[in-house]
This record gives sequence, structure tokens and C-alpha cells, in this order.
Amino acid sequence: MSKEHLIIFDTTLRDGEQSPGASMTKDEKVRIARALEKMQVDIIEAGFPIASPGDFEAVQAVAAAVKDSTICGLARALDKDIERAGEALKPAQSARIHTFLATSPIHMREKLRMTPGEVVENAVKAVKKARQFTDDVEFSPEDAGRSEVDFLCRVIESVINAGATTINIPDTVGYNIPHQFGQLIRTLIERIPNADKAVFSVHCHNDLGLAVANSLAAVRNGARQVECTINGLGERAGNAALEEVVMAVRTRQDVFDCNTRLDTTQIVPCSRLVSSITGFPVQPNKAIVGANAFAHESGIHQDGVLKSRETYEIMRAEDVGWSENHIVLGKHSGRNALRARFRDLGIEFDSEEALNAVFVRFKELADRKHEIYDEDLQALVSAAADEPETYKLVYLSVTSETGEKPLARVTLNVNGEEHSSEAIGGGPVDAALKAIEEIVGSDSQLKLYSVNNITSGTDAQGEVTVRLEKDGRIVNGQGADTDIVIASAKAYLNALNKLLSPRLTSHPQHGSV
Ligand code: KIV
Ligand code: ZN
Repeated sequence: MSKEHLIIFDTTLRDGEQSPGASMTKDEKVRIARALEKMQVDIIEAGFPIASPGDFEAVQAVAAAVKDSTICGLARALDKDIERAGEALKPAQSARIHTFLATSPIHMREKLRMTPGEVVENAVKAVKKARQFTDDVEFSPEDAGRSEVDFLCRVIESVINAGATTINIPDTVGYNIPHQFGQLIRTLIERIPNADKAVFSVHCHNDLGLAVANSLAAVRNGARQVECTINGLGERAGNAALEEVVMAVRTRQDVFDCNTRLDTTQIVPCSRLVSSITGFPVQPNKAIVGANAFAHESGIHQDGVLKSRETYEIMRAEDVGWSENHIVLGKHSGRNALRARFRDLGIEFDSEEALNAVFVRFKELADRKHEIYDEDLQALVSAAADEPETYKLVYLSVTSETGEKPLARVTLNVNGEEHSSEAIGGGPVDAALKAIEEIVGSDSQLKLYSVNNITSGTDAQGEVTVRLEKDGRIVNGQGADTDIVIASAKAYLNALNKLLSPRLTSHPQHGSV
């Protein structure tokens, strides 16, 4: 018996970007979207076009770059939002508008200040408006997980009559419990007379650590679309993790009567890309994509796996894209080989100059590091991203010896002018960042500093993430280098440059409607 198709709707670029500090540039979004397309994700929610000109352009750029996945734009139930989403999605081969309006008593009363009747009226109006731009319209009754079932039935029946083709049931605040959420989906599908005219979808948040469990309970009860994000990124505790949902359904085909079309070997590369762009590291014991997910430490387990792998493994590491690091290029590789390898990784350059800039960095790296892996190439592209650079590192030296405090000397190019400074610190990184701060005087607060090896070996590049906060705005900066003090300085400057950029995305769920 052939299985039904479970649609995977990825919202890493929209809900994922709502994680504090996870904002992405247009180019970064396009890179992630291409990786999602390669993985054969059905729908990519690329952003919230009304939020800012930057968000609009990013959705437009993703819509132009991706051909094999549907591109979706989010819009509140307002004409201006829907028009902006329709405009941004024009280049897409297949476009969806996702509009939403809250239906829980607390949201209607406190946030919207609307009566239930007004909510139905506005939801219907929004869906009809969206249908003017595309036949593929999704409606979400926000906070459905805390809404009254009778009212949900009324709203959903009305929006399906108005032309909604997907009904997404969000557990916006991550309040639901699997058996109850599964029952809610079953009840809606059974009670709503025109339920067969739409696909039922779920969108679960992870506040109680139940986002994946709730999504799977919904699938068992008839949902045929799951909204999720790579590495479970997302607002607050995040969204359901794509890799966990997809692998649970695939591994337990005895339990599910549907399956996805995803190329699961792209999961780990995609997870690494999202982690390196956002600067959100993946915890080692994270299911599927954590470094320890397939590592066996105990002797008994190792012995069992050597005798027969299935004794302790329910999935094969290679099926989710774990493979030996692939040595791709070295010091003597040329521009064409580099371009070809980037193409394999789903990265295209807009111009010869952009490729040349990365090629120069590649040669510098190859001088210091013998073997260059795919992960190194991803980090090179992140470093060459089109972030406007007010501050550039010109020179950095740190002297550090036993019994002495390290001393850092730094020269920065600030808007074309060179400025130098020196500082001592508790360690070499501390000294370098203090010397930078002497010049910049940003007055920002360091919220997080982390270092990860991009590949293994003592000559590996260290990838540093620095999170800064200033006036309530949080940004992440990344830097990679074989010298971790230089990587730290680059990450710090990257974060400072982001703090200076005016791009502020407003949050779709904090508006008045
Ligand atoms: O969590 C939520 O309710 C959302 C909606 C916009 C679907 O993200
Ligand atoms: Zn959400």
C-alpha cells in the first residue's frame, strides 16, 4: 500500500529567525534556502515581508533563487501585509501566502480587542485577499492550542469556504500535551464539514519540550503537513526540529501511514550550515545532528555494534548525512575547482568579484591549513558575506607568557581611517577584545562567547560566536580562523558591524493584529 505524502514546511528563515540573535542577511537566507531545496523540503517560509525592506528583499531573493520548493511569505490578516507578501513572492515559481489571526479567548480579548465575530470576519477577508495573489493560501488560527474547539471549528469552516487550502494549527505557546493535541486535530478533521477541502498542518513550539511529540501525535491523527525548523531553532524554546520529525516518521514506518520526500542525507550539512550562519551551536547530545548522536562510548555498546550494528543503532549515520570529513581542496587547487565545489554545496556567486574575494581567502587559509574541508568552505563564505563593514581588522598581535598578563595590540580600519590601541586582559582573547573596545567604545554587553572547532585536528579553524546586546537589540557575530584569538576579534567586529546596521525586523506576532 503506498503511503500518503507528509508535507514538510520549513520555517527556519521566519520563525527560526525570531530567536533572539538569529537574524540572517539576505545572502545567508538564500544559502539556507538553497540547502533546504536540495534536501527537497516541500515549502520554505522565507520571512515576513512587511517587517522591513530587508525582510521583503530576502523573501524576494529566495523566491527568485529557489525552483523546486514552494516559497511562502507570512502576513497578518491585514490588506497591507498580504499585498506586500504577494509582491515579494512574485518571482517564485510556486508561491504560498500564510496569513494568521489569533483565536484564543486571551488573545482576542487582550491583544486583538476583537469579538469572536470580528475575528471570523477578518480571517475570511484576509484569506479572500490572499487568494487574489495565489491559489495556495494557508490560514493559522494563532494560539489554536488554547482556543475553544467550537470556535475553532467555526473559524476554520469559514476560511476554507473563503479559499484557504491549508489550515495550520499552531500551539503558539507550547502548552499542549501529545494525546490532547492529537485528539484536537482528529476532532477538527472529523467535525468540520468541509475539512476534506484543505490540508491540516501543525506548528508546535517547544516550551515544554514537546514540540516534536505533539507534531507526531498530530500526524498520527490526520495532519499531513508539519511546520518545523532546522535544529529546532525558533521563538523562545524553539519549534519542532525538522530532523527529528522527519527521522521519526521514516524510522517508524510501522507506526505512521505517511512519509516525507526528503533527501535525509542533506540533514547534517543543512544543520551545520544553519548553526554556522546563526552562531547557535548544536548541543553534542542533540538527536540526529548532535556530535554524539551516533557515538558509542560504553564498551558493551561498542562490542554490540561491532557484532551487529542494529543491536544499538536504529538509524544509519550515513542516512542523515554523517560521513567522514571530505578533503576537497588544497593549496594548489584553482578557481574553477573551487567554484565547482561550491556549486556542489549549493552556493553560487553573483559575480566573478564575489568568487575572487572568496578565492583570496581560500588561498590564505590553504597556506596555513593543509587540508580544506567542506565546513571550511562554508565558513569562508560566511566570512565574505555582504555585511556592511564599518570596522575592519587590519592588525592584531598578542603576547602571552607564563606569569604575565597578555598584551594585545590592535589596528582597525574605521570607515577608511586607521586607529590603533593596546590593552592587557585576563587572557589573550580578553586582551584583544578590550583593545578593540578601546577604539570602538560600543558600550555593548557581551552575552555569549563560544568557540567550536570547524573540523578536527590542531590545525582546524576555530569558529567563534560572540553575542552582543545593546539597547535591547541582540546580535550574533561569527569569525573563523586557525588562530582563535584572530577568530574572536573577527567575530566581535562582525557583531559590532551588525549592531550598526539599521536592519531591525519587527515581530509578526507582537503587532496590533
Ligand atoms: O507560533 C505561531 O503561532 C506562529 C504563527 C504565525 C503560525 O508562528
Ligand atoms: Zn511560531
